[in-house]
Amino acid sequence: MRDEIETLEAAALLRWYDQSARVLPWRISPGDRAAGLRADPYRVWLSEVMLQQTTVAAVKDYFHRFTTRWPTVEALAAAQDAEVMAEWAGLGYYARARNLLACARAVVAIGGFPSDRAGLRALPGIGAYTSAAIAAIVWDHPETVVDGNVERVVARLMAVADPLPQSKSKLATLAERYTPQQRAGDFAQAMMDLGATICTTRKPKCEVCPLSGFCIAYAQDLTHSLPAKSPKATKPTRRGIAYVAIRSDGAPLLELRPPKGLLGGMIGWPGSDWSDAPTPAPPLTADWSHLPGLVKHTFTHFHLELSVAIARAAQDAVPLIGAFDPGFDPGSLPTVMRKVWDHATTGDLFAPQSQG
Ligand code: ADE
Ligand code: SF4
Repeated sequence: MRDEIETLEAAALLRWYDQSARVLPWRISPGDRAAGLRADPYRVWLSEVMLQQTTVAAVKDYFHRFTTRWPTVEALAAAQDAEVMAEWAGLGYYARARNLLACARAVVAIGGFPSDRAGLRALPGIGAYTSAAIAAIVWDHPETVVDGNVERVVARLMAVADPLPQSKSKLATLAERYTPQQRAGDFAQAMMDLGATICTTRKPKCEVCPLSGFCIAYAQDLTHSLPAKSPKATKPTRRGIAYVAIRSDGAPLLELRPPKGLLGGMIGWPGSDWSDAPTPAPPLTADWSHLPGLVKHTFTHFHLELSVAIARAAQDAVPLIGAFDPGFDPGSLPTVMRKVWDHATTGDLFAPQSQG
């Protein structure tokens, strides 16, 4: 009788969550939720989009900066594109930041966040995961929210041997059977918390897990081998050259990357193509020196190795590409471009020169 077991599991998990819910800045506590309070859809949406990139720990600072600067969806919708891209710098997946702004503007245009999954799903950048998360966490609709944590917990509870990612739809179907009709938002967040703190990838803490009595992987001592994963295709390595020029007033030469494509809409150093055999493309006629060493960075589909060329430019230099930016803030660079800057500025060419 799976139905009864699943109901008992959900109840055990919710009891644990009532005691152990993490306190997170976009969350309302289970007690407040029971008293009828509702989480702010703007904060839940923003946190969910950010959390698709990285961990709760890494998101907290970004979330704080965004909500301090733009406390409401109306404020975010009114922001300049470049300001939002600069605040997002370092989080990665920059198409999400562009969609974030498009979504904020669409929400304001329709007078607020929709309260149903289909309405949410129609917004820019909101897919199956985010629409389910907002509908459950804000509105308590009995939607099943499946992220990597939930996949891991379900694969273990039911000892699903098929490997990820092929098993995704099977795990989602199984997860649906656990989702309760009441308190679906707390349940979704409880599953995430369990996956993040107890049912961790390595060394799950089964002895203190509220679901150990229901867990097949635990009973059969399979937790270390689940979820199984298909071997990953190896990523190719591409190469390129990045050019860092500094004008005599200290302003560096930067380009705004085109809106579409990798790092779209972000600022960065002009450079060659990224390929097996990159073609040099200095953005300025200058005395370039090629620094020793490489800057390495890994994107979703490839590794990148950049060599870095640096030059000083005269105050009246006219670049072929990009523009000198006297207001440059290294914090507004995407991570790979930040690594290039760090590499360039540890070379001695840009070290302060002794006054003549
Ligand atoms: N990961 C993604 N969304 C989350 C949430 N709402 N709470 C905790 N971890 C999460
Ligand atoms: Fe995960 Fe262990 Fe709990 Fe099973 S008993 S759900 S493997 S922490």
